[in-house]
Amino acid sequence: MNTLKTVSSPVSIVDQPALAKSQSSILEIWGGTPLEGKVKISGAKNSALVLMAGALLCSEPCRLQNVPSLADIQGMTRILESLGVKIKQSIDTLELDPTNLTSTDAPYELVSKLRASFFAIGPLLARMGVAKVPLPGGCAIGARPVEIHVRGLKQLGAQVYIEHGVVHAYASQLKGAKIYLDYPSVGATETLMMAATLAEGETILDNAAQEPEVIDLANFCRSMGAKISGAGTKTITISGVPNLHATDYDIVPDRIEAGTFLMAGAITHSDILLESVVPEHLSAVTAKLKEVGFQLTPDANRGLRIQSKGVHTGTEIETLPYPGFPTDLQSLFMALLTLSQGSSVVTETVFENRLGHVPELVRMGADIKVKGNVAVIQGVPFLSGAPVTGTDLRATAALAVAALAANGKTSISGLQHLDRGYANFEQKLRDLGARIERVPTVEA
Ligand code: EPZ
Repeated sequence: MNTLKTVSSPVSIVDQPALAKSQSSILEIWGGTPLEGKVKISGAKNSALVLMAGALLCSEPCRLQNVPSLADIQGMTRILESLGVKIKQSIDTLELDPTNLTSTDAPYELVSKLRASFFAIGPLLARMGVAKVPLPGGCAIGARPVEIHVRGLKQLGAQVYIEHGVVHAYASQLKGAKIYLDYPSVGATETLMMAATLAEGETILDNAAQEPEVIDLANFCRSMGAKISGAGTKTITISGVPNLHATDYDIVPDRIEAGTFLMAGAITHSDILLESVVPEHLSAVTAKLKEVGFQLTPDANRGLRIQSKGVHTGTEIETLPYPGFPTDLQSLFMALLTLSQGSSVVTETVFENRLGHVPELVRMGADIKVKGNVAVIQGVPFLSGAPVTGTDLRATAALAVAALAANGKTSISGLQHLDRGYANFEQKLRDLGARIERVPTVEA
């Protein structure tokens, strides 16, 4: 095991100028314009981030393609560089060379701003036998604990303790184990699946997450020589291998970005085509869109068309782990339901604090009453533009979608959230005919 020096140089995670630009600009949207045409969906943020961390498992260079250009990807790039990974970026391709890692300590100032960086703990521990990663901490939508990750790593034979806000993990050799996840956590499934790829013997993950991003990670690891079966089901089996080899991998399309554009088409009662999308990944969402009155037509060429009959009704939505209705599209669907004929009930069961968009939708004229994690929405005939603030990534996107159907102009701040998860958001909407501008905010 090579001795590693701790990187002490202060590394600034976020592209400060880009963040400052997001924080000092707002989106202005004039609603009421039907959309038309087609939009190409980017690679999945929630797959790209974990696959970048997964590259740490490999002692040879890897190439990732269809990587979305997002602030979070820049953040993960800086974290991996601080560990010694050499990274070359071009348009939507990342060349990652993790051959010579120089550290197993992920710096606090980097991790604290990007929860997904906690994904580094599994691969570092499995390959280097040691990992020190700060606790990711909570965010606007919830406390986001990681005890399922930690408990699983201990079951794989690691010594794990938390000190001064840092998770310390050590294991000369991880050993396969049968692990039952108390909750089908996406992150915990991904962390334990990655750690088990280089463990001695077989690991079985029971009650595992079944999200398409988990399947994409398994396929990525398999393309490097890992032995994984059952990804996408509740039980994943991993037979450890001594090491992994180079790969060239194409990331799956972003089903949440696709869902966001379906809502943009639905709320404006438009006829638009999404390209580079996997319709099956959105079955729970398209089923609900059909139920409230829209027509969804997948085409053979990874396309999905949405058309409207001009009005839509209300419904009941309960967010659940995949294949249930995705929590990441709850706010977007709620925006659509504010203008439905009839009432709706939305229950958020995955995160304890993910209704931050409600007061801002009410500011635009929506009729929504909240009790705990349940929102009751009474459809209104119209929304009106207003100055609103996004509190997290999907909340901000929901306000933009509502603004597309609102009377007059809406000004949206909180774009630092939006830019974390949507590549070229306003350009894609503008290409569909939306009246949308990003304008700098004038300092008082
Ligand atoms: C992933 O987060 C996604 N993020 C989230 O997307 C998404 O909302 C979430 O999965 C659910 O689909 C990335 O992939 C980077 P979880 P993750 O572990 O892995 C609790 C977006 O908008 N839990 O499945 O953190 C947890 O607190 C983001 O793109 C524990 O209690 O989600 C939450 O309530 C937001 N203990 C629930 O499980 C644990 O050890 C689901 O969390 C782990 C999780």
